[in-house]
Amino acid sequence: MPKAIFIDKDGGQYEADIPVGQSLMEGAVDNMIDGILGECGGVMSCATCHCYVAKEWEDKLPPASEREEDMLDMAIEPQDNSRLSCQIEMTDELDGITVYLPRSQF
Ligand code: FES
Repeated sequence: MPKAIFIDKDGGQYEADIPVGQSLMEGAVDNMIDGILGECGGVMSCATCHCYVAKEWEDKLPPASEREEDMLDMAIEPQDNSRLSCQIEMTDELDGITVYLPRSQF
């Protein structure tokens, strides 16, 4: 099962095994990772699953949809590497994906 690594606002690092096909947000919530709330359940209406994707993983993800980009515009402190974790579907190729959690979500 692929693993995701979450790094919190203080540099704390947490790992979660997330089944292929599940979203990064669902995996974070199931593993009780602080900083990913996923309040809307993954329907792109809350942006509480906002994360910053580590540079080395950005190119491995499909580009964000227009709707995801629109939601990210409403996120607090968006950056070039911002994504909604509910829109990142785990695959074997994403084993080890690393994301940083926004300070605003703690
Ligand atoms: S969980 Fe609400 S936008 Fe991702």
